[in-house]
Amino acid sequence: MKALVLAGGSGTRLRPITHTSAKQLVPVANKPVLFYGLEAIAEAGITELGLVVGDTHAEIEAAVGDGSAFGLRATYLRQEAPLGLAHGVLIAREFLGDEDFVMYLGDNFIVGGISELVGRFARERPAAQIMLTKVADPRQFGVAELDAEGRVIGLEEKPERPKSDLALVGVYLFSPAVHDAVAELKPSWRGELEITDAIQWLIEAGLRVESSLVSGYWKDTGNVTDMLEVNRLVLESVERSVGGRVDAGSELIGRVVVEPGAVVESSRVVGPAIIGAGALVRDSYVGPFTSIGAACTVTGSEIEYSIVLPRASIAGVGRIEASLIGHDVEVTPAPNTPRAHRLVLGDHSKVQISS
Ligand code: TTP
Repeated sequence: MKALVLAGGSGTRLRPITHTSAKQLVPVANKPVLFYGLEAIAEAGITELGLVVGDTHAEIEAAVGDGSAFGLRATYLRQEAPLGLAHGVLIAREFLGDEDFVMYLGDNFIVGGISELVGRFARERPAAQIMLTKVADPRQFGVAELDAEGRVIGLEEKPERPKSDLALVGVYLFSPAVHDAVAELKPSWRGELEITDAIQWLIEAGLRVESSLVSGYWKDTGNVTDMLEVNRLVLESVERSVGGRVDAGSELIGRVVVEPGAVVESSRVVGPAIIGAGALVRDSYVGPFTSIGAACTVTGSEIEYSIVLPRASIAGVGRIEASLIGHDVEVTPAPNTPRAHRLVLGDHSKVQISS
C-alpha cells in the first residue's frame, strides 16, 4: 500500500499566514501539522509516500526532504493549480500504479493514527473505505448516508438538508478502482474535481464502499479557530520537560515544555504550554494552551491560548488571547499620545482592537 498526501491547495481560510507559508506547516505544539500525518502513515507500515504539492512546494520539500526522517520514501507530485482533491489522485496515477493507497489531507489531524483502518481495509478489500465523524452542523461538510450495515449508499457535498450527521474525515482508503472513477469526473460547480463525486461514482457502479466511525478526534485545521483547538488538544498530552534555562524568579506550573536553548526569566508559565528552542520569555505570563515558537521573544506581556510562529516578538503589550501570530511578526505598544493605533498589516490580516 502507498500513501498520497495532499499538501497543495490555496489555504484561503488561513490568510494571511498562507500568503507566505504552507498551511500544512503551521505548527501544532511546535511541530508542523503535516508531520503528525506522516508519522501516522509510517506507523501504519507504509513506506512509499507521494506528496501532492502546489505553489508552496519549495517549503514543503525543505521540511519533508526525502522522507527518511519519518521512515518514508517521498516522491513529489506537482499540481499546477488546486483543481480539487480528485485532481490530486489524477496527477498521481503513475506514482500510484495498481496499488491500494491511503489518501490523507495534509492539514487534517487525527488522534489515534490510521493503523487500524489500514488493517481493516487490507482484510476486507472494499473499493473504498471512508472515515466519518459526527458533527453538529453537517451542512458545511461532505455528508454520508449509510444503510443498516454501515455501508455507504450516498454522499453529498455541503447539503442543504443533510441525510445524516456523519461528515467525511480527510483520510480515505482506495483500491485502484478509484482511477476509473476519477477519469470520468467533470469539474463541479466550484470548478474542482471532487473526491466525493469519485466515491459516489464507485457506489453507483455497484462497488463496495465501507465506512468507519472515527473514535479519536479530528479537525480540519484550515481555519484559525480549529488550529487553536488542535493545538490545545495536543498540548493536553505533553509531559513536563525543561531543557532550557529557567531562573529562580520564574515559576513553571504543571506540564510545561521548555525546549533546549530557551530562556525563561522573571515569568510565570502555566501549562500545558511549550516554549520553543532559543525563545526568550521575560517579565511575562504565558498561560495554558500556548505554543511559543523557536527563537521568539515575549517580554513584559501576557499571552494565553495562542500559537506564535518562530522568530516573532511580543513586547510590552498587555494580554493576548486566542491568537495566531506569524513568523517574524513584531507586536509592540504604541506611544501614549496621541491615543491611536498604528498598524502595518499584510493583506487579509484580521485584528481585533479593544478600545
Ligand atoms: P482544502 O482545505 O479543502 O482546500 P484549500 O487548501 O484550497 O484551502 P481553503 O479552502 O482554505 O482555500 O484542502 C485540503 C487539503 O488538500 C489541504 O492540505 C490542501 C490540499 N489540496 C491539494 O493538495 N490540492 C487541491 O487541489 C486541493 C483543493 C487541496
